[in-house]
Amino acid sequence: MKPVCLVIGAGAGIGGTVGTKFASEGYHAVLCRRSDKEGLDKLVDGIKSAGGEATGLLLNAIEDDVIEETVLHVEKNIGPIEVVIYNLGAQIGNVPLEQTSYKQFEMGWRLGTFGLFRLAKTVCPLMAERGSGALMVTSATAAVRGNKGQHSHAAAMGGRRMLCQSLNAQYAPLGIHVAHILVDSMVDAPDTLGKLVGPEVFQQLRDTRGAEDGMMLPAKMAETYYHLATQHRSAWTHELDLRVFSDVAWWNHA
Ligand SMILES: NC(=O)c1ccc[n+]([C@@H]2O[C@H](COP(=O)([O-])OP(=O)(O)OC[C@H]3O[C@@H](n4cnc5c(N)ncnc54)[C@H](OP(=O)(O)O)[C@@H]3O)[C@@H](O)[C@H]2O)c1
Repeated sequence: MKPVCLVIGAGAGIGGTVGTKFASEGYHAVLCRRSDKEGLDKLVDGIKSAGGEATGLLLNAIEDDVIEETVLHVEKNIGPIEVVIYNLGAQIGNVPLEQTSYKQFEMGWRLGTFGLFRLAKTVCPLMAERGSGALMVTSATAAVRGNKGQHSHAAAMGGRRMLCQSLNAQYAPLGIHVAHILVDSMVDAPDTLGKLVGPEVFQQLRDTRGAEDGMMLPAKMAETYYHLATQHRSAWTHELDLRVFSDVAWWNHA
């Protein structure tokens, strides 16, 4: 039985590509996303046609009990979860406070923080029983820098970062590697950034910035996720950031 890499939030950008990388390294990739069966099937079929193992699950991860039931289903029917990638984003664009609704703010918290809490509460004890596992959490600049228009996103991601530190404090000594991966540039991600800015602007971004390596390439990012998840426990990284070479790092912004 292959070890499982479970990806919560697997679109054509980071999530699906990281799952594909782990599948190419001998894991059974379980890819979960909310909608777009066609997109999910494409990812799963791509893995299988390259000789890997994959399962696709369409689900809404922030509905009650869904994350918990998914973890237990995978453990029982597919295999032990050795690596889990929490990749749900909470970006809603730049929205001033007056236009940020209670509902949006609460949704940001559910995606950004509460979903991770529920995932960790279910999967970490299982990993701890086995004495090993990796919880890789994708994050964003907003985890370390609030800004106008980012009220909901920054609060959610800041919470995510602190939750990662707390999880690490409890579970690293039990053999679980918790990593917070701060993504500090725009990603070539059609299912998230692409939908946020619309197809035309996204294509322009690809043709301009992207053509000069000014958008992060998920396949290159996936190498880092794999490296992190397979680090020796004598030298674990808890937090790192990734950005394109030409962007100003978050701490150097005016
Ligand atoms: N894209 C960027 O420019 C960028 C920049 C900085 C940080 N990040 C971080 O990167 C991560 C996302 O990676 P990505 O942008 O490359 O996207 P991605 O992996 O291509 O896609 C993420 C997937 O998450 C799924 N999802 C959203 N809500 C869900 C829910 N409630 N239940 C189940 N699945 C759900 C979406 O599925 P459906 O499409 O089916 O709805 C989407 O396809 C986030 O943590 C974000 O903070 C991204």
